Amino acid sequence: MGKTLFIKTWGCQMNVYDSARMADVLAPVGYRPVDRAEDADMVILNTCHIREKAAEKVFSELGRLRALKRRKAAGGGRLIIAVAGCVGQAEGAEIMARAPYVDMVFGPQTFHRLPEMVATADAAPGRCVLDTEFPAESKFDFLPEEQGTQGISAFLAVQEGCDRFCTYCVVPYTRGAEFSRPAGDILAEARRLLRGGALEITLLGQNVNAWKGEAPGGGVWGLGRLLREVAGLEGLARLRYTTSHPGDMDEELISAHTEIPALMPFVHLPVQSGSDRILAAMNRRHKADDYRRVVERLRAARPDIGLSSDFIVGFPGESDQDFAETMGLIAEIGYAQAYSFKYSPRPGTPAAELTDDLVPETVKGERLTALQELVNRQQVAFNRAAIGRVMPVLFDRPGRRPGQLLGRSPYMQAVHAEAGEDRLGTLAEVRVTGAHANSLSGCLAGAANRDAGATLEASA
Ligand code: 5AD
Ligand code: SF4
Repeated sequence: MGKTLFIKTWGCQMNVYDSARMADVLAPVGYRPVDRAEDADMVILNTCHIREKAAEKVFSELGRLRALKRRKAAGGGRLIIAVAGCVGQAEGAEIMARAPYVDMVFGPQTFHRLPEMVATADAAPGRCVLDTEFPAESKFDFLPEEQGTQGISAFLAVQEGCDRFCTYCVVPYTRGAEFSRPAGDILAEARRLLRGGALEITLLGQNVNAWKGEAPGGGVWGLGRLLREVAGLEGLARLRYTTSHPGDMDEELISAHTEIPALMPFVHLPVQSGSDRILAAMNRRHKADDYRRVVERLRAARPDIGLSSDFIVGFPGESDQDFAETMGLIAEIGYAQAYSFKYSPRPGTPAAELTDDLVPETVKGERLTALQELVNRQQVAFNRAAIGRVMPVLFDRPGRRPGQLLGRSPYMQAVHAEAGEDRLGTLAEVRVTGAHANSLSGCLAGAANRDAGATLEASA
């Protein structure tokens, strides 16, 4: 056996998690991961369909792989090319037609069947194996327990799919209906990650706070209860969850931010727009004031909490007044960071049918620039407020220069610090000395200043 595998991953953290699990599924059939497509017997493109022109990016990557496949064939070798993820799910037929040299196309819900797909592709070279079903069985029941290490900061998928059907979004069509893994399975996977050296676990789901899973002793738990149970596992230092919908923030989840010291004070809570009219057109099923109230409750539970959001500008029908309401909401809330996008139609979604009252590209561009300037100012202010403070940083990678490490603060800020390699993979107290638009810098705090908790502390 002894074959090699290269996976290129686009998109969200769920895709990063899925890619790791694809490698786990292929390990028992003899594939080991390599770092370059050139060295691989199989290349999987794990794709994302959220961004505009996602499919075009995949096709241009496929063009490069086609040339590599030809070179390998000329040398008597073979390259298996697979397209996975949400573009595979949404555009399987088109990929087969436009790129007939692709050997396998599958979606997010069928990659547990990879060994069978590989066997079929091996038996019939030149034919494409397509598997974009939404199977009745859950892939999680077929993924191997044995997992490659994810390092000290690990992802754990607890929930997948979405039943909310926001009118602009492809997720309900590419990832399918909402599914919550049973709590017992999640806790077992968390224990394995911790035994493998993880200090931080991020629970993942497209709509993670809609998680409602079977409890080990019967009954059903919500995410707040699950966080409490995961936080109790030995070896866990930090816990996060993403991405949340404002409509699913229940009391048990909010109070978890008061009660669980390991739960980091940072929540990604997309609102998309500050205008009730646009929120209704987006089928978000909440108003701007509902969002304000959720934020108030979160801040009451954890006053130092850092917030992040996603925004879409230029949704069909968005007026100057609607956009002003979005800017007003941002000014009021004060974000630690945020992602923002120009609306663009995704085929198959209800909003793609809206053809009246479209917002011109130039206006979208102006709105996006104005929104990003406001958010950047807020981000800089949030970062500056950290100067002089001592906070725990989880160092997960080497820094830009020798003698530097890079890690994350409790609030998800990237932190560069002067620190020896012996600190890599550890949680250390850092005194913040500088703040930049996208990161902090600092140095290790003296033993006298250490504080084991995750709270900010004013410098002495
Ligand atoms: N146009 C622009 N942005 C979109 N997003 C999702 N669909 C679209 C679209 N059709 C953004 C949303 C979502 C984030 C992951 O991507 O803000 O929260
Ligand atoms: Fe998409 Fe999120 Fe809306 Fe679900 S809640 S449809 S994943 S934007």
